[in-house]
Amino acid sequence: QERLRPLIAGNWKMNGTSAALEQIARLKTLLGEAGNIDSDVLVCPPATLLERASQRAQGSALRIGGQDCHANPSGAHTGDVSASMLLDAGASHVIVGHSERRADHGETSETVRAKAAAALAAGLVPIICVGETEAERLAGTANQVVGEQVKFSLPETFGETPIIVAYEPVWAIGTGRTPTIDDIAQMHAHMRQLLVARFGKAGEAALLLYGGSVKPSNAEEILRTPNVNGALVGGASLLADDFFSIIVAA
Ligand code: G3P
Repeated sequence: QERLRPLIAGNWKMNGTSAALEQIARLKTLLGEAGNIDSDVLVCPPATLLERASQRAQGSALRIGGQDCHANPSGAHTGDVSASMLLDAGASHVIVGHSERRADHGETSETVRAKAAAALAAGLVPIICVGETEAERLAGTANQVVGEQVKFSLPETFGETPIIVAYEPVWAIGTGRTPTIDDIAQMHAHMRQLLVARFGKAGEAALLLYGGSVKPSNAEEILRTPNVNGALVGGASLLADDFFSIIVAA
């Protein structure tokens, strides 16, 4: 497989107030000093910081994304944010179907597919998350669970927009535990196979991100794994210097 330009994405989750914008500024400086970075770099701050973060990121290669969007373009959905609102605030991407949203908000793969379709319709690139729980892995059903999530969470067509799927084993998120490199390679190969069977060339070009306890010390090994085309980083994306080490590892 030809090398795909990696995407290193940071998911700040529900962390960060105005002071955290300094991390955006710092990251911009680090990226500027480094010059030639052979990856796309994205930070997904909380919605309240989106617009200011994208203003701060201006003039650099750093892109800004949302963490979720509603499936509808507008309407009576108190507390929700639409894909076009994210775009308007300066986002280029949006994470959908993160396991924390699947667990905390009862999102099913069908919900996630509708959100991804809404993102595409608004002109955002969706990053669609999948991943098995520890019980599912121990029961030997990880492939099947992730396969079904991939099948039902992805819209019918992506048009010209790149397909991005993030594999985040639930038990590896925020725990400091990661699957073995062999297990990551196996799952990513499985996802690649499914995407190529369904989308052909677009499946070959799909970016498969790994997420779950990625940190400066393990990033290089994980990012060297076949069919791993980037990372979705939680905790280690909160500090620009840590996140930058991961970018450099790619
Ligand atoms: O979306 C990224 C995330 O779920 C991984 O979190 O803190 O384990 O890197 P963390």
